[in-house]
Amino acid sequence: MATKKPWGGRFAQTTDPTAERFSASIHFDRALARHDLRASRAHARMLAAQRLISESDCDAILGGLDALEAEIEAGTFAWDPALEDIHMHIETRLRERIGEPAARLHTGRSRNDLVATDLALYLRETAAALELGLLELRGTLAARAREHIDTVLPGYTHLQRAQPVRLAHHWLAYVEMLGRDGERFAGVRQRVRFSPLGSGALAGTTLPLDREATAHELGFEGPTRNSLDTVAARDAALEFLSAGAIAMVHLSRLAEELVMWSSAEFGFVELSDAYSTGSSLMPQKKNPDIPELVRGKAGRAVGNLVSLLVAVKGLPLTYNRDLQEDKEPVFDTAATLRDSLEVMAGAISTLQVQIDGMRAAAEDPMLLATDLAEALVREGVPFRDAHEVVGRVVGHCVEKDVSLTSLSRGDLVAFHPSFTAGAAELLDLERALEQRSLTGGTARANVLEALDRADAELAARVEAIAAEVAGAKEPR
Ligand code: ARG
Repeated sequence: MATKKPWGGRFAQTTDPTAERFSASIHFDRALARHDLRASRAHARMLAAQRLISESDCDAILGGLDALEAEIEAGTFAWDPALEDIHMHIETRLRERIGEPAARLHTGRSRNDLVATDLALYLRETAAALELGLLELRGTLAARAREHIDTVLPGYTHLQRAQPVRLAHHWLAYVEMLGRDGERFAGVRQRVRFSPLGSGALAGTTLPLDREATAHELGFEGPTRNSLDTVAARDAALEFLSAGAIAMVHLSRLAEELVMWSSAEFGFVELSDAYSTGSSLMPQKKNPDIPELVRGKAGRAVGNLVSLLVAVKGLPLTYNRDLQEDKEPVFDTAATLRDSLEVMAGAISTLQVQIDGMRAAAEDPMLLATDLAEALVREGVPFRDAHEVVGRVVGHCVEKDVSLTSLSRGDLVAFHPSFTAGAAELLDLERALEQRSLTGGTARANVLEALDRADAELAARVEAIAAEVAGAKEPR
């Protein structure tokens, strides 16, 4: 339905109905309602302090905004596609509610600096929430890791069994990865530490706004430094999408391992019934749908990053309507990552580990072939030669179909005189783990130390984020 254009003083005709529907963003940008109201309160108070509006108009505006917020929370707010976006909704409904004072709220302000402000507030809040979600999953992984300090499985390269590792060491790898993801989201919060409000449509305003005041009220460090950059830039949103895509890719790798490990071929874990589903046809099936969906949804997060990168790439300064395309990818990545973190934490915390299956796979003596070469290195043999010798030993075992550990000292000496004992004596799974005691290694003491460090770091990060977020909260 084409209606008279809001703010349409210069137009003779109404908007084409399809064009109206095509350009409306209210069905998604209503997610910014709280942020828009908050920015408007700060703006109104500043206008009053600057004597650009009267105290009584300011009071009327603040009262009206509170009432609109209550309507939105109660679900009684009237959303209307003809009112394009969240900014137009708030302004229009405020006018209906309080009359003339509402017409003064947009003084010195544009939707361009307003939407940039809303988005900065949203990114700051959402990045912190995702950091906490990442910490939650890291905590779950660290707790499960501590239970499995003595559970051993093969570590893989090229999906070929490579060397034995502790399951705790394996899961701590994800604790590290997800920690860097958290740092990336903290970086996003750093990037949005300045307030866009007061940049106007692009070039500021002739009116004496106090940008410092609104910046501080909104929990920013200060105002942004260039009005053109402020309304044109979307790199913080891109960084958010990038951090989200990388985090989803990490979750996808963890999910892929759960899918593989829960197969009969691996037999390393069993997912809880709460995180798997049956087959509509095959009664025996227990499918790892939840990790599969996390793996699948990583694609959306990657796509969201790519779509905004492409939307922004050709744009001249400053604001262009293309920039409205920033929101759906951002909201979608936020929701996808939030839910994926939650279901992965659930799946990991309820996972049953098949300790015997893992150990049986890790006990393949071939996984210790490197250690046999390193035994020769200890006797002074150059590593490259030792590698060659043990390669021939392995070839012999494969050809004769015998176990590496069945070779006596005599058998080994036939390959190189420096072998000091039989393979069974030189090779031992526990020793193989314990000898890997360099920083970052899989020896028990190292892994315990890493677990302690992770626990301390996780607790400290949760506290730090809580303190940072409290500083940015709206004073009530
Ligand atoms: N809905 C718009 C967006 O999200 C708000 C800014 C519109 N500005 C304008 N000049 N049309 O980008």
